[in-house]
Amino acid sequence: MRSLSRSNAHFKKAKAKLPLGVSSNFRYWGDDKTIYVERGKGGRVWDIDGNEYIDYRLAYGPVILGYGDDRVDEAARKGMNVGGVFALSTELEFDVASRISKMVPAAELVRFSNSGTEAVMAALRVARAFTGKDGHVVMEGGYHGIFSEVMWYTEVEDWVPGQGAPEVMPFGEGVPAVLKRLFHTVSMNDANALEDLLKEKHNEIGAFLIEPIMGNCCGIKADTQYMQDVREICDRYDVLLIIDEVKTGFRVAKGGVQELYGIKADLCTFAKAIGNGYPLSVVAGREDIMRHIGDGVVHGGTFTAHSVSLAAAAKTLEILDETTALADIESYGLKLQAGLSAILERRSIAHCFSGHPALMGLFFADKPPSNYREWIHSDYAFYDALAPELHELGILVEPDSREPWFLCESHNVECLDETLDKFERAVDITLPKLEQSQAVAAGGPIHQ
Ligand SMILES: Cc1ncc(COP(=O)(O)O)c(C=O)c1O
Repeated sequence: MRSLSRSNAHFKKAKAKLPLGVSSNFRYWGDDKTIYVERGKGGRVWDIDGNEYIDYRLAYGPVILGYGDDRVDEAARKGMNVGGVFALSTELEFDVASRISKMVPAAELVRFSNSGTEAVMAALRVARAFTGKDGHVVMEGGYHGIFSEVMWYTEVEDWVPGQGAPEVMPFGEGVPAVLKRLFHTVSMNDANALEDLLKEKHNEIGAFLIEPIMGNCCGIKADTQYMQDVREICDRYDVLLIIDEVKTGFRVAKGGVQELYGIKADLCTFAKAIGNGYPLSVVAGREDIMRHIGDGVVHGGTFTAHSVSLAAAAKTLEILDETTALADIESYGLKLQAGLSAILERRSIAHCFSGHPALMGLFFADKPPSNYREWIHSDYAFYDALAPELHELGILVEPDSREPWFLCESHNVECLDETLDKFERAVDITLPKLEQSQAVAAGGPIHQ
């Protein structure tokens, strides 16, 4: 049994100074389950109790090469020698912007920020300025950061299919109700729903914000035809297509999800993998739209284009662009999927994968959902029971089945073999436990 005694003791201390004892709500896993990290290296992290984990959360995506990558860290140290931030610009901004434009053709012009949230905020602001329309459409189940315009979610867990659309609720307290007016949703892979909405409201909607592989929703994917329809419908109704590549960018392909689908966004956003964990984000897009920045639209920030993050991004992007890193990561993901499938098939457990091998959703259903409404039909109770057993054995996955597994360049064969061995053990621990708790819930006999 894994001990979390030092993490538990630290939690008691930390919660006196930090809400929930952490710096992001999502890092709180319960008073006795919250983990404090000592360090990470490659595809592994160690907690302050000395427990070692193979990590498939990878900080929710930024770690694309591995924790503490020597090549990137050396570049970051050179960036440190530059001096940080100056309220002035450095030449490095142009170098990194040029690399991004080379890798992502839609990124004709580039502006840097620090977080994915900031980049998406900027994209929506630019879209409002360009179109003169304040409203935006977001995919049901989508997540685009912590700012009020997008902090609305579709409540599917209590929703009864056939009784109208699921309700849209504020994502927590403090989100101004007045903003709900700007927020519209559609269901993934339903082009008619988008068409109907825009036919009625195109005068007030300026942007469609979409993550074609939903990185916060099990990697649910848009069909290729759907993306082509979306592109055409947006053009027809003068609505800008913003592709949020905060998770998919520099992960699923050199040119991101846009390369996979052969689609060009009007505006796109990047963060996470761009600097292998050093904070940097990007809003980029069509020149005629991006030129509104500085010509009406205000964009900036004290910490934008920090020399350490830029130096780290220059090296990370060089590696991703010029080596086989992304192809290797994809092959690790495919190998992992094949191994997980063999284990689950031997036990006749229905399952499938969604998303991309570098960002994959694991479903306990015969086929992946094609939208968030269908997600309720997968057996997420099994995932919920399995995840803590994986943690016990040293495999770190998100407790919530909606968060995909992330792969990085350091998830080599040794990591994968160890993962499969532990996954098999975790499944065999979970199955009887679940059977027992289901029997109790049904009032039936308990087999000891
Ligand atoms: C698609 C997407 N957009 C935006 C964000 C917000 O990024 P950040 O957490 O860096 O603010 C996230 C974060 O997970 C994301 O997945």
